Amino acid sequence: MKKTFYITTAIDYVNGSPHLGHAYEKVLTDVIARFRRMMGDNVYFLTGTDEHGQKIQQSARARDVDPKTFVDSVAPEFEEMCARLEISHDDFIRTTESRHKDVVCRLLQQLFDKGEIYKAEYQGYYSTRQEQFLQEKDRNEDGTWPEIFGEVSEITESNYFFKLGAYQQWLIDHIKANADFIFPRYRAKQVLEFLSEPLNDLCISRPRERLEWGIPLPFDPDFVTYVWFDALTNYYSAVADKDGLWPATFHVIGKDILVPPHAVYWPIMLKALELPIPQSILAHGWWSINGAKMSKSTGNFVEPIEFVDQFGVDALRYFLMREMSVGQDSDFSMEQFLVRYNSELANNLGNLVNRTLNMTNRFADAKIPAVDEVGEPETALQATWEKTRDEVIPLFEQFQFNVGLERALQFITATNAYIEQRAPWKLGKSDDPADQALLRTSLATMAEALRLGSSLLLAVTPGSVGKIQGVLGHRMGEVWRDELQWDHRLTGNTVEKTCILFPRPEKKS
Ligand code: ME8
Ligand code: MG
Repeated sequence: MKKTFYITTAIDYVNGSPHLGHAYEKVLTDVIARFRRMMGDNVYFLTGTDEHGQKIQQSARARDVDPKTFVDSVAPEFEEMCARLEISHDDFIRTTESRHKDVVCRLLQQLFDKGEIYKAEYQGYYSTRQEQFLQEKDRNEDGTWPEIFGEVSEITESNYFFKLGAYQQWLIDHIKANADFIFPRYRAKQVLEFLSEPLNDLCISRPRERLEWGIPLPFDPDFVTYVWFDALTNYYSAVADKDGLWPATFHVIGKDILVPPHAVYWPIMLKALELPIPQSILAHGWWSINGAKMSKSTGNFVEPIEFVDQFGVDALRYFLMREMSVGQDSDFSMEQFLVRYNSELANNLGNLVNRTLNMTNRFADAKIPAVDEVGEPETALQATWEKTRDEVIPLFEQFQFNVGLERALQFITATNAYIEQRAPWKLGKSDDPADQALLRTSLATMAEALRLGSSLLLAVTPGSVGKIQGVLGHRMGEVWRDELQWDHRLTGNTVEKTCILFPRPEKKS
């Protein structure tokens, strides 16, 4: 049996509402998941929320509620965002669920029994904001602490530590031997650089008196787990009781949590537990908004749900995939969004849909004719189609969605140009049988090209593609690749009168 393609997103902190970065990661992962399904893989898709820790405890306190009440009020916003973005996940895990906490405890106990976890006294500078002890090398040149650490204080405390060093060489060898482990590949260099220095053991606990909101250690309830041991384990806890899912095939995360958590801590934790490690980790880049870091306080912010309300889900999904080269950073500007929305979606794809429906209604009683005379323009468009299809599939397989979409839209442009060339509106006025034959051919050809071109967008804009296929009287079959043959399967179908896909956006007052 084929192994399931098990894909995950990072789990989001629920100390605030979901933002564009969260939305992007869900959409990217969803596009990969949908594409793998289209390619015939058996996909299992997990997402969820990260609900323990200092920041969440603080956010709850600021609102004068207990942490559980607080996370129960925010987590549904993340689930709602997934629904509104048409994310096709199979499971949504919350780290406050007992199915997760039980597994975290079981794994911690196992490592403790094996001697991989030990208790030690620790003295050092601690950043509350980042929930981490700092090192001398973290200081600014003038000896102060960088602002991202917030208030820094010197503390001494006992804590539990997980041994990382024993598996350092194993991990280095693994990364060097498996070019697919980290994507984009250049990021593997960053991981190897981090691994070129001896690893410090990882502090995995906090005394309960300082941090209450965490999972108590099974072997010492005066301590709770903190951050990574709890959060990373979600990928395993969600499927621990499901056959054949572990190890994950694909973790999708942002570049800020690749080194060290996902590329170092996680594989070493699994290795120490004698569990197989994930096949690949994809680290995507970050969105800025209008050239600046997103920030609620300055209003430089995009509310994903509001955006979907205004422009439709596919406009957002398309823009996120079209604009960002996976792995790199990108900027979200309303100007650039509107350019792509108008020129690529409304005036190019939307226009082709409207022309096809209008002309088929006007000149053929809404019935897609059989192809008659085939000339050079038809042969050329078919050749362009075959080339496009054969380029786009490998691009999508390598996560180059921006380039793949560009090519797909170029085919739509070529189809609109084909229509200009044939000018069916002129042919429709002529009684000449040769012109009537060409008219039938051109109507059939534009419908066929629209059916094919739009099917390339299925993973990115599934709702719109379903609509387009529907107004052409077509229902896509189970096997996506079978949909990509130029074979005029629409002949005789009745088309709808209109189809509104990308309306002119209403001006926000
Ligand atoms: O890091 N652009 O949660 P988180 C693109 N709970 N992606 C962004 C982004 C931006 N501007 N801002 C954030 C956490 N992200 C942990 C993860 S996983 C076991 C635990 C991405 O809510 C970020 O890179 O801070 C991360 O992958 C995800 O959103 C959640 O970030
Ligand atoms: Mg973060």
